[in-house]
Amino acid sequence: MAREFKNYIDGKWCDAASGKRFENRNPANWEEVIGTFPDSNAEDIDRAVKSAATAYDLWRLTPAPKRGEIIKRAGDLLAYCKEDLAREMTREMGKILLETRGDVQEGIDTAYYAATEGRRLFGYTAPSELPNKFNMSIRQPLGVAGVISPWNFPLAIPTWKIFPALVCGNTVVFKPAEDTPATAARFVEILLEAGLPEKVIQLVNGFGPSAGMPLVEHPEVSLISFTGSTPVGKMISSVASKDLKRVSLELGGKNAQIVMADADLELALEGVLWGAFGTAGQRCTATSRLILHEAIHDKFLATLIKRVEKLRLGNGLESTTDVGPVINQKQLDKILSYIQVGKDEGAKLETGGERYTDGACRNGFFISPTIFSQVTPEMRIAKEEIFGPVLAVLKIKTLDEAIRVLNNTKYGLSSSIYTGEVNAAFKAMRDIEAGITYINGPTIGAEAHMPFGGVKETGNGHREGGWPVFEFFTEIKTVFVDYSGKLQRAQIDNQ
Ligand code: UN1
Repeated sequence: MAREFKNYIDGKWCDAASGKRFENRNPANWEEVIGTFPDSNAEDIDRAVKSAATAYDLWRLTPAPKRGEIIKRAGDLLAYCKEDLAREMTREMGKILLETRGDVQEGIDTAYYAATEGRRLFGYTAPSELPNKFNMSIRQPLGVAGVISPWNFPLAIPTWKIFPALVCGNTVVFKPAEDTPATAARFVEILLEAGLPEKVIQLVNGFGPSAGMPLVEHPEVSLISFTGSTPVGKMISSVASKDLKRVSLELGGKNAQIVMADADLELALEGVLWGAFGTAGQRCTATSRLILHEAIHDKFLATLIKRVEKLRLGNGLESTTDVGPVINQKQLDKILSYIQVGKDEGAKLETGGERYTDGACRNGFFISPTIFSQVTPEMRIAKEEIFGPVLAVLKIKTLDEAIRVLNNTKYGLSSSIYTGEVNAAFKAMRDIEAGITYINGPTIGAEAHMPFGGVKETGNGHREGGWPVFEFFTEIKTVFVDYSGKLQRAQIDNQ
C-alpha cells in the first residue's frame, strides 16, 4: 500500500480537515505510486497560519545567530541524507541522479550561507544632524511568511525561501507543489530534527486554487514568496495587493544562448547541451533558444544534432540515463502542443518532436530532445516559455542583432553569450535584458550566495539567493536615540 503522508500543522502530523487525499506518482513510471497526500483547503491553511502566528514571538525573540545555528544543523542533516534524498527526489520528480544530487547540494549551500547571515542582518548607523543624538536602522521580521514552491527544484527552491525567512525571524507556512510533496515532507522533518521549534514551520499539502490561494488571501500572512508560472504569479500579485502584502515572484523564462563566430565552439556546444536538455528543459533558467552567428550556424547545428541524438532517455536512477521524463501528463501535452505550433509556424524540425515510448519508457512521460531550426524571432516558439526539452535555433549576422533577438520576449531571467572577444562580452553584459548573464557558460547554474531573479515578466523586482533575499524577508526600522536631555527638533533646530 502506498505510504500515507501528512500535513504538519500546529506541531502535529495530521490529515486534511476534509479527509481527502491525492496521489503522487513517478513520472518515469506512472504505475508506481510514491504516496498519498492530504488534499488541504482553506480550513487547513487557516489553522496553520494561526498556529504559525502564535509561534512568532518566540521565534522573533530568538537571537538571529541562534536561528542561524539551527539552519546550519539543517544543512548538516541535508548533507548526511544527500544520497537518500536525491534518490527519492528522482523517483518523485524524474530528473537524473546527478541533478537531484545537485538540487540537494544547492539546499546545503543555501543553509550554510543563510546560517552565517544570522550574524550579519546588517542595518546601518549614520551621524545625526543634531548633537547628542544617535541614528541607526535595524532589520526586523514581518510575521508569518507564506511559501509556495514549484516541482522542478523540489528541495533547492524551498530552501532558498524558507532558510532566509527563518533566519530573519519569520515563521513559515509552506505549500509545496503537488507534484513533489514527498521531498517537502522530508525537508520539514529535517528542519524539526535540526531543532526548529514546533509551529515555526507548518506544512500544508494541496493544490493551487484550494490551498495556495487561501494562503495568499489569509489576512494574517504578511508576505508571500512564490516560484512558478507568470499567469499564476500575476494572479497572486493582484490578490495579495488588496492587503498590500509583500510578494516575491520568480516566474517564467525564455532564456537564450548566443554563440558568436569567435567563440570556443566545443565549449559552446557542451553549454547548450547542458542548458537546453538538463532537467529535460524544465528549469526556469533552461536554454530554450540558441542564437547562432551565421558564419558558424550550419556546422554548429549539424554537430549539435548529432550530439543530441546520442542523448539517452530513461529512468533517472540509472547511470546510463542523460535525460529523464517530464513531470506529468499535462506538461507532456503542453510541450507536444508547442512542438505542433513550431511545425505550423514553419520552423524546421531537425530532431525529436515526439513522445518517446521505447522499452521501459512506455509507462513514463518522455519526450525526445527536440531541435527546431529556421526559427524567426516572431514565432511563438521563439517567445513563449515551453518548459521542456525543446530548443529553437535562430540565425543572426551581428552582435547587435543577436542581442535584439535575445531581448525579443516578455521574459528576462537568464542569458548567455559565448565569445572570445572582450568588447562583445561587455556589450552583452550591459544590453541584454535579463537578471542573469553568463559569459562563456550556459544559462543554468546560479549559485546560492548570488542574487537570482529576472526582469520584465519574469518577476516583480525581488531577488532570491544572495543578500537581497534577506532584504525581502525583513522590514527596516529606523531608530533615533536622543540623549541630549532636551527637545531637539529635526529640521527646526538646525536651521
Ligand atoms: C529554477 O529553474 O527555477 O541556476 C531554478 C540554475 C539552478 C536553479 C534553477 N541553480 O539553473
